[in-house]
Amino acid sequence: MGILELVKAKARQNVKRIVLPEGDEPRTVQAAAKLVKEQLVVPVLLGNPQRIQAVAQETGTDISGIECIDPKTSSKASTYAQALFELRKAKGLTEEAAAQLVQDPMYYGVMMVKLGDADGLVSGAVHTTGDMLRPALQIIKTKPGTKVVSSSFLMECPNKALGQDGLLVYSDCVVIPCPTAEELAHIAISAAETARTLCGIAEPKVALLSFSTKGSAKHELVTKVQEAVRIAHELAPNLALDGEMQMDAAIVPEVGASKAKGSPVAGHANVLVFPDLQAGNIGYKITQRIGGATAFAVLQGLAKPCNDLSRGCSVDDIVATVSLTAVQAQG
Ligand code: ACO
Repeated sequence: MGILELVKAKARQNVKRIVLPEGDEPRTVQAAAKLVKEQLVVPVLLGNPQRIQAVAQETGTDISGIECIDPKTSSKASTYAQALFELRKAKGLTEEAAAQLVQDPMYYGVMMVKLGDADGLVSGAVHTTGDMLRPALQIIKTKPGTKVVSSSFLMECPNKALGQDGLLVYSDCVVIPCPTAEELAHIAISAAETARTLCGIAEPKVALLSFSTKGSAKHELVTKVQEAVRIAHELAPNLALDGEMQMDAAIVPEVGASKAKGSPVAGHANVLVFPDLQAGNIGYKITQRIGGATAFAVLQGLAKPCNDLSRGCSVDDIVATVSLTAVQAQG
């Protein structure tokens, strides 16, 4: 079974309520209908109901039975505005500004998740990553024990000898441009949790990547990754985690055995932690475009799941991301 089928099967076991703030966006409307048909989640569309209905008609989509909420007229808007004001007043947010903000479907959706009226949120077919991330970071905040929100890509590779049956987790490829050593350690631990929760990888083997393996090169960038390994060992002593190591030492058994002898991870890593966002983002795209892998992205480290879409996403991409969000919401 591929990763998507695995995730969909899990989503069906305990159906969650997922809010879609871009409710009048044609691919989102079609995805909502598909999610209901496949019994994956209970979707909630945000936006003007007449507009949503018009989009459904234009795209020939049956959305009967799907809840549509207009943040501008919702009876919950004042409750959300008051709660948002309480959460952000120390940051200078006024009551008037909070009332204005919750009319924005992105903020309204995040408040639904915050207050437990939805189990998770998916957006980004129209909004940029930053527009989607900022309200989630400001309002949902990080999980207890986690210092940062980051991301993982679940990479399903044609070469089944890699990772766990061809499945590898890459982190962080979306959020933190230039992580500190402590942030890298938290990214690594979150990525291991993502591997367990979403990929069914019972024993994550986490490699912190660099251009150096076990001190083969000396540079401040290498020292940062070594420091991240030290901190991660302190925070998660039972996790199979090692570094710094080069990509080949992480995933090729013979190279791992020769360059990082005795490492519990080298040669067999299934979670790859990149030293910064440039490396991570480039790395996943190389694996996808040249290596022929399929990539699924999730955010990790948030107290409740919110996930971002690519603006070029298809209906099926939205269905996949919502299914992943639902499984994250199961915990
Ligand atoms: N984890 C936890 N909290 C965070 C994080 C984080 N990684 N980053 C910011 N925050 C918090 C801040 O502490 C702050 O909280 P506060 O307001 O309560 O004090 C709040 O979020 C806003 O922080 P800012 O620093 O003002 O946010 P910023 O404008 O820098 O935006 C963002 C943060 C959006 C994540 C930024 O780092 C970013 O743009 N990252 C890159 C996104 C991107 O473009 N990715 C690549 C493309 S995606 C792709 O290719 C698939």
